[in-house]
Amino acid sequence: MLRERIALYVKNDELSSASFDYYGLTNDPILRSFFSEVLRLKASVWGFRLCIEDAVLPVGGKEYFFKKGTTIWVPVPIVHRDEEIYEKPEEFEPYRFLKIENDGKMTKKVMFKKNGKQTRLAHLPFGGGKSMVFRAVDVLIQCPGRNLSRAIVITYAATFLHFFDIELLAPLPQIRPSDRFGLGVELPVESLPARFKLRQMRTQ
Ligand code: HEM
Repeated sequence: MLRERIALYVKNDELSSASFDYYGLTNDPILRSFFSEVLRLKASVWGFRLCIEDAVLPVGGKEYFFKKGTTIWVPVPIVHRDEEIYEKPEEFEPYRFLKIENDGKMTKKVMFKKNGKQTRLAHLPFGGGKSMVFRAVDVLIQCPGRNLSRAIVITYAATFLHFFDIELLAPLPQIRPSDRFGLGVELPVESLPARFKLRQMRTQ
């Protein structure tokens, strides 16, 4: 399925990431959904915020008081595994972030439900929330490198999948336990040996 999708954007058979229609590839809704799902499960980040005024946050029938100056850490991996937001959250479901309109058009799904209300803050691998600087206008602050990283990861994966057959030479290793929680990407306990074989290309 991934290969069929990637093949839509191949311009020629030269072994290079430049052989793709780069804009189409990195904006394809199915490939974007795969990328978002990988980040949901593997980008282990904390969001940090400073409370700039005394605040009371009502959650689940209780009220929590935050004094001005308090540092707040948002444990994003816990949000990403919230079963109220995501059905079977521990499972890799690559089409979670794909929205299919009535006319069949595919777009990126950004809205999920929490406490019965629609929210766009369910998927936070690049951070999120209101900007302190631009609070007058309703902007969301996020990682400014998010489009670049999406382009790099999708193009890199597409290059490997399109040009090579990949054979895993050992079972998938376990992911390292929680010593990496919040510190970037969750790594496997040991490296995974693999063999790459150049495919015979026929696109023209
Ligand atoms: C998959 C890759 C990446 C992930 C998961 C990621 C994640 C994040 C997160 C969670 C934040 C904090 C945002 C917030 O405060 O809400 C952040 C901030 C930032 N990221 Fe990334 N990032 C990635 C790639 C990149 C790249 C490629 C660049 C630069 C080329 C970049 C540059 C930055 C900068 C400059 C900030 C600070 C923004 C600010 O506070 O004004 N990131 N990133």
